[in-house]
Amino acid sequence: MKITISVIKADIGSIGGHIKPSESLLETVTDYISEYGKGFLKDFYISFTGDDIAILMTHTLGKGNEKIHKLAWEAFKAGTLVAKNQGLYGAGQDLLKDSFSGNIKGMGPAVAEIETEERPNEPFLFFAADKTEPGAYNLPLYLGFTDPMYCAGLLLSPDMTKGFKFTIMDVAHTKGDKIIHLNSPEDIYDIAALLRDNDRFVVESIYSRNSGEQAAAVSTTRLHNIAGKYTGKDDPVMLIRVQKNFPATGEILGPYSIGHLVGGFMRGSHTGPLMPVKLNSTISYFDGPPVVSCAAFCVHNGKLTEPVDAFDHPYWDFVRDKVSQKAYDIRRQGFSGPAMLPYSELEYGGIVEILKRLEKKFKVRK
Ligand code: 13P
Ligand code: 13P
Ligand code: MG
Ligand code: MG
Repeated sequence: MKITISVIKADIGSIGGHIKPSESLLETVTDYISEYGKGFLKDFYISFTGDDIAILMTHTLGKGNEKIHKLAWEAFKAGTLVAKNQGLYGAGQDLLKDSFSGNIKGMGPAVAEIETEERPNEPFLFFAADKTEPGAYNLPLYLGFTDPMYCAGLLLSPDMTKGFKFTIMDVAHTKGDKIIHLNSPEDIYDIAALLRDNDRFVVESIYSRNSGEQAAAVSTTRLHNIAGKYTGKDDPVMLIRVQKNFPATGEILGPYSIGHLVGGFMRGSHTGPLMPVKLNSTISYFDGPPVVSCAAFCVHNGKLTEPVDAFDHPYWDFVRDKVSQKAYDIRRQGFSGPAMLPYSELEYGGIVEILKRLEKKFKVRK
């Protein structure tokens, strides 16, 4: 059976700043999807990560389907009304357009979708990150899919010997989707050369070269490109199919032990370590640190199992302690050097205005 897994995520308001959506907001989105998705959704799952709500859906309508995208858009609109009534912060933050125009891509919410012939056993992972950007997944994807130091299956499994095809997007190009296809293992230096630049080049999808099947889909929305100004970080979602022709679950999770430094954190303008957190976690220290959650599922005939929280295990408590130390260390230097993002990435206008004002006062000494 051919099914599509779609995840659509938005920040439509949260309690106490950019921390967590309210219970009534989550209820409203859940009720809307359950009521209006009747008849065409096979299944769905609603969750939050920090201040973002994600709607995970299974159906047979394919990728980029208007009915599916509109359902999510309208659910977020209904939620926004509740957010306004509750006085939530940033009500409707990610809904950047007034009316729905066929595809939710380019309207604010983040989208990741995989259409596939369901395997007899179909395990997959759903990742959601907050207070960071889509490129935050670049390093873990590179390591999980190309590096035998992390992905033992590249050496041990006959199903992965041909490697993977990466589609990478240049997200600085705003007039359309500018993409490149590169193959691992032969192009890994080229892949690395692009993926080191998290805010410019972002993995959009990965395909198995053994079977041709899609392994991964990442949301690549850049909100400030759509709105033309800062509107919050583009907190990304991702889907990854695992096992058999794809890396094992643990090979995909492994690289999150690093707590690598990513852009985001306070006001989307800082550098901080990416902390793997439990499902439905909130945000705290310095509007961060940047977080990532992972729900593991199996799906059969479009019906989802219950989610298993992939980062709820004693091992990840140890990782979280180390990542907290890393966050504390970089925060001690405040605005200085790499702790704050470079001028080109500063999403709030304030510093841009200060520099413009000071430029007039500068004089070249005679
Ligand atoms: P099992 O032998 O338990 O199926 O595990 C295989 C595997 O891939 C573990 O990473
Ligand atoms: P979000 O992008 O998660 O809304 O966070 C914005 C922000 O400014 C946090 O300090
Ligand atoms: Mg927010
Ligand atoms: Mg957010």
